[in-house]
Amino acid sequence: MLCASCHADNALGLPGEPGVSNLSAAMHTAHAPRMGPAGNLTEVCYACHPGVRTQCQRDVHLANGMTCTQCHGNMVAVGNPAREPWVDEPRCGTCHARPGFEFEQPNTLYRDSVGHKNVHCYACHGSPHAITPTVTPLDNIQANYVQGHPGTIDTCTVCHSGGPPGGFFHKRDD
Ligand code: HEC
Ligand code: HEC
Ligand code: HEC
Ligand code: HEC
Ligand code: HEC
Ligand code: HEC
Repeated sequence: MLCASCHADNALGLPGEPGVSNLSAAMHTAHAPRMGPAGNLTEVCYACHPGVRTQCQRDVHLANGMTCTQCHGNMVAVGNPAREPWVDEPRCGTCHARPGFEFEQPNTLYRDSVGHKNVHCYACHGSPHAITPTVTPLDNIQANYVQGHPGTIDTCTVCHSGGPPGGFFHKRDD
């Protein structure tokens, strides 16, 4: 059975049936009060999302003690029918502010956003739940290889041969 034939699902681009809740709202709202023993997991979301062993979230935020709900809210919040699933996601710029810096582009997910003269955010920071430096050595291999230390790609000569032409800017346009 294709759940999205009735429950709208942006991940599949399917509109669902009128009057039926979207799949994300149905799943998170219906399960919020029915987690049973899974409700005792440190990360309750790992009851369904990968996972205690898979370590979907393994980034610098985890290393700083942050959990899913600090960025996403709890299951009731994720299940809020007013949210647009897969579109209304956490944004770096909600928590991070720094003079002269810009973060996600307006109405654009992190994964699709660019900064520093159209370089993708993830080229320097890694993918959303693996923002470097991560707690898993494999995610740090690229940074170690190209610049000799893990974390954000912050070494200009990784990309600019012969040294950069001016000061660093984090905005899309100087
Ligand atoms: C033929 C249409 C149809 C299909 C297919 C369908 N659903 Fe539903 N589902 C409904 C309707 C109608 C409701 C009740 C109204 C609502 O919740 O919007 C519902 C309710 C739910 C609820 C809330 C139940 C509760 O106790 O509150 C969940 C969770 C759910 N569906 C998950 C799924 C999943 C997972 C699949 C795929 C395996 C699926 N549905 C497939 C029509 C469907
Ligand atoms: C009972 C199983 C279940 C649990 C527990 C669960 N999820 Fe989900 N989650 C799902 C399913 C199924 C989907 C896929 C929905 C779809 O295909 O649209 C999903 C999709 C999502 C999405 C992407 C779609 C959207 O709404 O933007 C986010 C974000 C998400 N979950 C966050 C969480 C967080 C945070 C928690 C813990 C607070 C959590 N989930 C707990 C089943 C669960
Ligand atoms: C530091 C904040 C942060 C934490 C902590 C976090 N997420 Fe996310 N999550 C995000 C951001 C940001 C996005 C949207 C990425 C984008 O815009 O491309 C996202 C997207 C998602 C999605 C949608 C999938 C996708 O590819 O867009 C799911 C599902 C999800 N998170 C689940 C989780 C779960 C489960 C946890 C805990 C194990 C978690 N998140 C912890 C920030 C966070
Ligand atoms: C819910 C708030 C929140 C969101 C959303 C969030 N962060 Fe963070 N971030 C933090 C906190 C708290 C820390 C740890 C304390 C600190 O360094 O400020 C941190 C640390 C970091 C660090 C390490 C900073 C350093 O100097 O060590 C980086 C890099 C980072 N975040 C990038 C991102 C990116 C990229 C996103 C979006 C994909 C994001 N953050 C989303 C709250 C957030
Ligand atoms: C060319 C590499 C590069 C690109 C592209 C890039 N960044 Fe950064 N980013 C950096 C550097 C370098 C820092 C500063 C790290 C430090 O202070 O240690 C930084 C810092 C950050 C921080 C932490 C700010 C703070 O101090 O709290 C966030 C959040 C962030 N970037 C998000 C983004 C987002 C979102 C995008 C895409 C729109 C992006 N970055 C694109 C290199 C980049
Ligand atoms: C991940 C790759 C990457 C890293 C790391 C990087 N840059 Fe860049 N930078 C680019 C790209 C791509 C351009 C656009 C080049 C073009 O349009 O010809 C650019 C353009 C620039 C420009 C504008 C040059 C012009 O001709 O308009 C300046 C200045 C600059 N970078 C400085 C820096 C500094 C300083 C650092 C180190 C702190 C740095 N960059 C790190 C990829 C990078």
